[in-house]
Amino acid sequence: MNPRSQQFYSIMARGGLRRGRAIAPEGFGITPEELSRPVTSASLFGNDAPLELEVGSGKGTFLVTESQARPDVNFLGIEYTRRYWRCAADRLRRNDQDNARLVLAEAVTFIRDHLDDASLSGVHVYFPDPWPKTSHRKRRFVQAEHIELVAMKMRSGARLRIVTDHAKYFAQIDKVIRSSSLRVIDFDALAAAADSQEIVGSNFERKYRREGRAFHTIACERV
Ligand SMILES: C[S@@+](CC[C@H](N)C(=O)[O-])C[C@H]1O[C@@H](n2cnc3c(N)ncnc32)[C@H](O)[C@@H]1O
Repeated sequence: MNPRSQQFYSIMARGGLRRGRAIAPEGFGITPEELSRPVTSASLFGNDAPLELEVGSGKGTFLVTESQARPDVNFLGIEYTRRYWRCAADRLRRNDQDNARLVLAEAVTFIRDHLDDASLSGVHVYFPDPWPKTSHRKRRFVQAEHIELVAMKMRSGARLRIVTDHAKYFAQIDKVIRSSSLRVIDFDALAAAADSQEIVGSNFERKYRREGRAFHTIACERV
């Protein structure tokens, strides 16, 4: 392809080239600017199926597998790293996964500005970045204010599940959740995306499992 051609520029603008083909997550990878507010199952998927959110989808392993296994549920992933967003959205596109979308956005801002109260049927937070340096702790997703925001967006009976390998972050997560308006419940394994022996079947779970790391889990629901 002539690198100066219009086609070249338009492919690069949509995500670049890999192995001679365009990586363009058209339709599956979306930006907040493309969305009307509030974002609902009806606005995004054209139906009224329950809507579940994944915060920090990474390369999309959980999003792809869980949405395949549960076709009656709509899944919206949020990912703010462009290269992961592009990769995960392209996986959805290749699977023609019509009940899942991935938005390129910072999670707290997106949840606050784009979602209606009581609109979510489930929330998944798997291996959130631990930000181990003390000066970076305020960047953690799980903190009291953010969890109350998420709780507000959950409908009654909706469940929030969190898994991490990071013991110190888990101590904070446990404290935040137990002091929140959400009720702690048993963490039941998500058989849909997980293989036997796995908890959720995300990319980081698989990577850390190979390294023999221990996992910490908590689940809670909106009463
Ligand atoms: C450690 S990875 C885990 C990815 C995936 N959940 C898994 O278990 O394989 C954390 C991911 O969350 C994304 N992330 C972290 N903070 C975020 C935020 N505030 N908004 C959106 N994405 C975020 C990162 O870019 C990264 O891809």
